[in-house]
Amino acid sequence: MRILVTGGCGFIGSNFIRHVLSQHPRDRVVNLDLLTYAGNPDNLADVEADFGGRYRLVRGDICDPSLVEPLVGESEAVVHFAAESHVDRSIEDASAFVRTNVVGTQVLLEAARRTWGGDDSRRFLHVSTDEVYGALELDDPRCFREDWPLEPHSPYSASKAGGDHLARAYHHTHGLPVIVSRSCNNYGPYQFPEKLIPLMILNAAQGRELPVYGDGRYVRDWIYVEDNCRAHDLLLRRGEPGQVYNVGAGAQRANLEVVQGIVELVAARTGREAAELAGLIRHVGDRPGHDRRYALDTAKIRALGFAPRVDFERGLALTVDWYLDHPRWCRRVTSGAYRDYYRRMYEGR
Ligand code: NAD
Ligand code: DAU
Repeated sequence: MRILVTGGCGFIGSNFIRHVLSQHPRDRVVNLDLLTYAGNPDNLADVEADFGGRYRLVRGDICDPSLVEPLVGESEAVVHFAAESHVDRSIEDASAFVRTNVVGTQVLLEAARRTWGGDDSRRFLHVSTDEVYGALELDDPRCFREDWPLEPHSPYSASKAGGDHLARAYHHTHGLPVIVSRSCNNYGPYQFPEKLIPLMILNAAQGRELPVYGDGRYVRDWIYVEDNCRAHDLLLRRGEPGQVYNVGAGAQRANLEVVQGIVELVAARTGREAAELAGLIRHVGDRPGHDRRYALDTAKIRALGFAPRVDFERGLALTVDWYLDHPRWCRRVTSGAYRDYYRRMYEGR
């Protein structure tokens, strides 16, 4: 398969490209990525070395139709990860979110409509998120199913819902072979340390404060990134056009529990006392509009044959090990602009 991956230098995209090229020896990948603060070609240095003949990076913007159209036209499939992905940044300024997540998605869909000419062997896998459903209360026993109404709360999730609606509308109106995934929170190697798990690992390792928003009793549903990549690979090859699939591993955890787990793993790896590291936990000002809980019903993708392989405790240990074993990567992504971001977001919070 000739696959166009958008946003392949980010966290999930880079793991996905590594997965596809190693599992499917005849597949070829073009990676279209703007290399924003979140896009890092270092994430794919090993891929360039191991699979260089089947992999190509194009630096560019998904909002640029003249760049996008020929790339989509020559591809049998598009896997669309590119996005502005961080909720806190969308609260600071939502404009880049609307541009990339809504307009960029429409530009890609339109390019597929114009160039694929009704060929229904092609696939457009649109990567949405569970955040489009809104939030559940802690005592609500229900989980989000794919037919749950969309009620996004943050500017990030509203922009993702815009892209999600457009993707399904292009299937409904134009018959474009679109599949939509809505996955829960991912964690694992190469995640930018603005997100909860890598931020807490790096801070704990450096003896810095561990900033928990509000009461810390917010629940996220977690999946190890390799499992999510296997799920997306399956959707690409076996998913039904026009359908939406939740992707999750059934691991709901409160943030405080996650942070405590990280503290224990980092303490064990660095020979420090867990109680000393736990003393770094600070409850800081809450995220405005903070969603209380996400939980996914994943029966539909399981019926397609998906089963996660990495449970949360093992995945968290693998993730802590990866960050502690890659100090150079961590130093590079936390220099300059990251420090400014961190000061802006956390000082005096
Ligand atoms: P990320 O922020 O790590 O990576 C995003 C990538 O998109 C970066 O490489 C960036 O350079 C690129 N990009 C941004 N704007 C672009 C543009 N205009 N043109 C081309 N490239 C551009 O994101 P991630 O965490 O890997 O998430 C990937 C996708 O999965 C996103 O669509 C996100 O909404 C979705 N998602 C993420 C999670 C999660 O937990 N991380 C969960 C569910 C869904
Ligand atoms: O649910 C899927 C979504 O998961 C994806 O669509 C998003 O792209 C991805 O960023 C993620 O969104 P969250 O907002 O859930 O992830 P984040 O890592 O920012 O926060 C996870 C939880 O941890 C959330 O309740 C906020 C809290 N948090 C986060 C940070 C960065 C803290 O308590 N302290 C922090 O410093």
